[in-house]
Formats: sequence, C-alpha cells, structure tokens
Amino acid sequence: MIGRRTGSDVLTPLGEDEVLVSAGGRHIVVPAACPHRGGRLRYGYVDEKRLRITCPLHFATFDLGTGERVAGPDCPALPVRELPR
Ligand code: FES
Repeated sequence: MIGRRTGSDVLTPLGEDEVLVSAGGRHIVVPAACPHRGGRLRYGYVDEKRLRITCPLHFATFDLGTGERVAGPDCPALPVRELPR
C-alpha cells in the first residue's frame, strides 16, 4: 500500500534521529532526515510492496533494502539498518 504516514503501524519515530519502517514483514531503521535536504521521513510515503520510501519534501524515493535512491533529486543513499525478524 502506498501513502501510509506516521500514526499508522508503518512509520514509527524512534526518538529524534531515526524512524522505524515496518513493511512487508520487515523492520528497517532509517534516519529521520532525508539525505537530500533533510525532509522529515516520518511523514514519508511507504510502498510496502516494492519496499520503498518516498520523502514528502521533494519526493526522493529510496529502496529500503539497499538504501539506494531510485527516483527523485540526486542525493546520497539513505543509510538503512534492518532489524532481525
Ligand atoms: S529533502 Fe527529501 S527529497 Fe528533498
């Protein structure tokens, strides 16, 4: 499903600096700030099927498995850390 936001069971802020993404049976920790220009990923959009997150500010989209940017403005990869199942 696309378009889930904070408050759902998909995006959970972990303090100030990180966000837990729960999608597709996986639990992945990402930084709270987008590597493009600091957009707040807690308000991002998650595509659970493709395992991608899109920043709400300029719509950079990252693969949650690898952290690579797959669409949107040029920027570094998103550091991702998967938690054990
Ligand atoms: S700040 Fe995230 S895409 Fe620009």
